[in-house]
Amino acid sequence: MSSAEIAKPAPPPEDNPADKLLPGEHTLPASWWTSQKVLDFEKKAIFSKGWLYTTHSIRFKKAGDYYSFTFLGMNFFIIKTKSGELKAFHNVCRHRAYPVVRKEKGSSIILGCKYHGWSYNTDGKLTKAPHFNEIEGFDPEANSLFEIKCHTGKHGHVYINFDNTDSAVPFEEFFEGLEDEMNEYDFEDYEYHMSYELDGEFNWKTLMDGYQECYHCPTAHPGLATAFKMETYKVVPKGNYCRHYAKIVEEEIAIPTEEADADEESSWFGFGKKKQSTTKKTEPIKKENPGGAFNGLWCYLFPTNGINCYSPAWYSIRVLPITPTRTILQYDIYTKKGLADDKKKEFVDFLQQVELEDYNLCVATQKNLNQGVYSTGYLHPLKEKGVLYYQGLVKDMVKKHYNLEQEAGKEINPAWVGGKENSEEAAELEALCAKIECQGSNPETKSGLEW
Ligand code: FES
Ligand SMILES: [Fe+2]
Repeated sequence: MSSAEIAKPAPPPEDNPADKLLPGEHTLPASWWTSQKVLDFEKKAIFSKGWLYTTHSIRFKKAGDYYSFTFLGMNFFIIKTKSGELKAFHNVCRHRAYPVVRKEKGSSIILGCKYHGWSYNTDGKLTKAPHFNEIEGFDPEANSLFEIKCHTGKHGHVYINFDNTDSAVPFEEFFEGLEDEMNEYDFEDYEYHMSYELDGEFNWKTLMDGYQECYHCPTAHPGLATAFKMETYKVVPKGNYCRHYAKIVEEEIAIPTEEADADEESSWFGFGKKKQSTTKKTEPIKKENPGGAFNGLWCYLFPTNGINCYSPAWYSIRVLPITPTRTILQYDIYTKKGLADDKKKEFVDFLQQVELEDYNLCVATQKNLNQGVYSTGYLHPLKEKGVLYYQGLVKDMVKKHYNLEQEAGKEINPAWVGGKENSEEAAELEALCAKIECQGSNPETKSGLEW
């Protein structure tokens, strides 16, 4: 998209005064932040049904370039095909399930499994299976890699959806309006800079709770108050995503003249940096703001992704649940083309400072949630509207999936890919395994196997 086509930043919608008259909403109970069973349900009900942000298409330069990921214990990779599109596949060989790619990133138009030598092309088609041409009736076509739904948006963002059922929701329906929202930012003018990861002892929702409000910002992020007008911070729920709005500080501020000269390159990302000055001479100057009138484009994407755009850089976050009390946070940063190295560093420092503050909040909060003495707390109907919104989606989707399983009388895993061509015997054995899991082998005690 050329700069001329960049849409004007949309102002946030006005508050509805009636919203202030809705007290009494509480968080979900703390047990939802500690229970393995709840996480198991969330995987099926939420993470295997929604569209999950992965990466940006700019990182794939040529056919065969791939990146591998692990979400919710599922290994998959995204690859640029010979025809130029991006496709996602479970990283599971169709022969005996060995991983087909074994690096975080790489490039190859032939993906050879290093166990028995089966090979696949960039479309996931089986092209070689040593000695299987001797086997009558073996159909290579039926042994392609398991494909995962993959959507590349018009701004290059790449999403996947594990839902392998007929009721999978199309991307445009799930994130209605999101792509248009992104018209305000020229993603083409940015290039990949770096990634980093944090490993935290907290539930994924502990992080999202803080992410979805800035009620905590004045107390927990004192540096941010110099960059944003906290009173203007607003989270507006849309279609399975929320737009965050805040006005940046642009007023003239009094800075000692000599100090200002010395820090000419300082921007509004130098949050909280107190400069030493020897001069007493003070004149009002305009604080440099590389964002100009741009107030930022910050989007939370349900359930666990964020795309946050500033003038010098934009970054994405993937929040990946590992256990009920352990979560991995992955950040990718893209900087404006031609941005000076010190500016890049300034942005990364800013981001990591804020993330560290949030990370510490999450660790300490989770410890208390684990104690079992706290259940729910009041949420402010406006200041914590984003928390109410996403927790409401969590609650509704988990309840709906629970009811589905109750009606079906069996577990339903939308990400399941192995069952379609299975033989009757395999289905029977799957059912037997489910019974054993459910009841144990001893119907009297309903406990597990007794040795
Ligand atoms: S597991 Fe891949 S070739 Fe056997
Ligand atoms: Fe925060």
